[in-house]
Amino acid sequence: MASGAARFETPRPAPELSIVAPAYNERDNVRPLTQAIARAMEDVRWELIFVDDDSPDGTAQEVAALAREGAPVRCIRRVGRRGLASAVVEGVLAAESELVAVIDADLQHDETRLPVMLELLQTTDVDLVVGSRHVAGGGMGEWDIGRQRMSRFATWIAHRLAGVAVSDPMSGFFAVRRSVVEVSIYDLSQQGYKILLDILTSSPRPLKLAEVGYVFRERNAGTSKLDVVVLIEYAFLLIDKLTRGLIPPRFVLFCAIGGLGLACHLVVLDLAIGQGVSFLRAQGIATLCAMGFNYILNNTITYRSARLKGLRFAVGYLVFSAVCSLGALANISVANLTLREVGSWPLAGIAGALMSSVFNFGVATHFVWRPRRPRRRANVVLRASA
Ligand code: GDD
Ligand code: MN
Repeated sequence: MASGAARFETPRPAPELSIVAPAYNERDNVRPLTQAIARAMEDVRWELIFVDDDSPDGTAQEVAALAREGAPVRCIRRVGRRGLASAVVEGVLAAESELVAVIDADLQHDETRLPVMLELLQTTDVDLVVGSRHVAGGGMGEWDIGRQRMSRFATWIAHRLAGVAVSDPMSGFFAVRRSVVEVSIYDLSQQGYKILLDILTSSPRPLKLAEVGYVFRERNAGTSKLDVVVLIEYAFLLIDKLTRGLIPPRFVLFCAIGGLGLACHLVVLDLAIGQGVSFLRAQGIATLCAMGFNYILNNTITYRSARLKGLRFAVGYLVFSAVCSLGALANISVANLTLREVGSWPLAGIAGALMSSVFNFGVATHFVWRPRRPRRRANVVLRASA
């Protein structure tokens, strides 16, 4: 050993299983989850990696406090980035063990199944073990009927469109070889919640799979983060997979909202003309309303992770309107050119509309909803738990 080289004490044995828990506002679940895993994994060396998206409730600080008490836990705190799937990917890449389990932080997944999942990975050549609610020993628990129906429909789509064979492709509870994720890393969509489906449909080779039944439990503390945008992101994921990443899913949503905006335009135009307003003035009012409508929907859904609020919302609207006006100009000139060259007005109309959608999308993505530095937050005061 070169003289002066740092001497490390006895090498500490690597964990047999790294467990990744994506977390957003899960402070009150950090300790109960860690203790439950400790009880379930008595004879196994394990580490628990919380991937926290800068939760305002002090989740990251709670993990740090627990680590100081000697628990094999650590936290990856992500600032300016949001999303369950991408959080899981970052956790898996940071895992010390080649064998990695993914579990929600709210104790709805059954940690007592972890040893079985680990054993399957250690003793067979299975690549991925899915915690399933739809095999023997599995169940949806007390989950409300609405969520159950939604999950079954999403499962049906995943079976039909993505052609995956597992019984519960919507599961957020699974164990996998880290190398399986690493080899697909550049093809993963990392959209929304459905990281398991993302891994299954991004792997360059068919994966060897196993399933272990578990009953989905009530949440221990806090609230679910699932909302309509997560459902749209599921559609994003499917679009991305079906088009092999050729069409940015956001563009599809941007155009769909553009279509809704057109309908809004026509409704307002009709209403205004009905009130006796002159066509030109009515057209102006309808254009402003449609732009506002598009802007609000895109800010709420399409660009959720870069959502604008307060003064930025107002400035964003002005920039968006300016962008759309330029887009309208581009639309008219391309439509004009196409009409002169091809002589077909439907084709000219479509060419113009396509031109403005691509233009508006490109410019709006880079100028209106560009990624921003997160704002400094007041210090989090951690109250020592009893
Ligand atoms: N880092 C990070 N960032 N974590 C997140 C985010 C995020 O944006 N959104 C949610 N999480 C974490 C939550 O804190 C929780 O630990 C876990 O992801 C699951 O979120 P829930 O909001 O509790 O999801 P659910 O209970 O409605 O649905 C879960 O179970 C279903 C059945 O297995 C999810 O795992 C679904 O994917 C799954 O289908
Ligand atoms: Mn949950």
